[in-house]
Amino acid sequence: MTKSLTLDVNGASCLVRVDPDMPLALVLRNRLGLTGVKDGCGLGQCGACAVLVDGEPTLTCVRPAADFEGRRIETVEGLGTPEKPGPVQRALIEARAAQCGYCTPGIVVAVTGLLRKDPHPGESAIRAALEPHLCRCGAHPSVLRAVRALARAAPR
Ligand code: FES
Ligand code: FES
Repeated sequence: MTKSLTLDVNGASCLVRVDPDMPLALVLRNRLGLTGVKDGCGLGQCGACAVLVDGEPTLTCVRPAADFEGRRIETVEGLGTPEKPGPVQRALIEARAAQCGYCTPGIVVAVTGLLRKDPHPGESAIRAALEPHLCRCGAHPSVLRAVRALARAAPR
């Protein structure tokens, strides 16, 4: 059975008619074309499907889209573009902190959520924010360097 849902995504109100049990990740990717949201493990274990929900990094592969009505959803597409990357994207590019890039949107989301709350996170806060995000290419050391650089450069 399908149902109409109104989702607030990257500042736009989006009406979709879907099975309300469909995971949000699939609605964002397959119905709204936001393919920066990756459908990785589908089990809540890799972080590739993360988006910001009311500012909180949130995995979307295991929760139905209907749970997110009335919440403010931001995907990586809302955080910058290839022509105009956001600050986290720029830092990752400068640190060459991606190889295949599959994990990168989730990492951009996690770091953005972290830095909005605390522009000067310590090492343990940085590692805790990145902990849910697996990178099969081994880019984590460069990601850590990029986030430390952002924390150092943030105005006091
Ligand atoms: S795809 Fe959601 S955590 Fe892996
Ligand atoms: S850059 Fe390939 S999975 Fe992270």
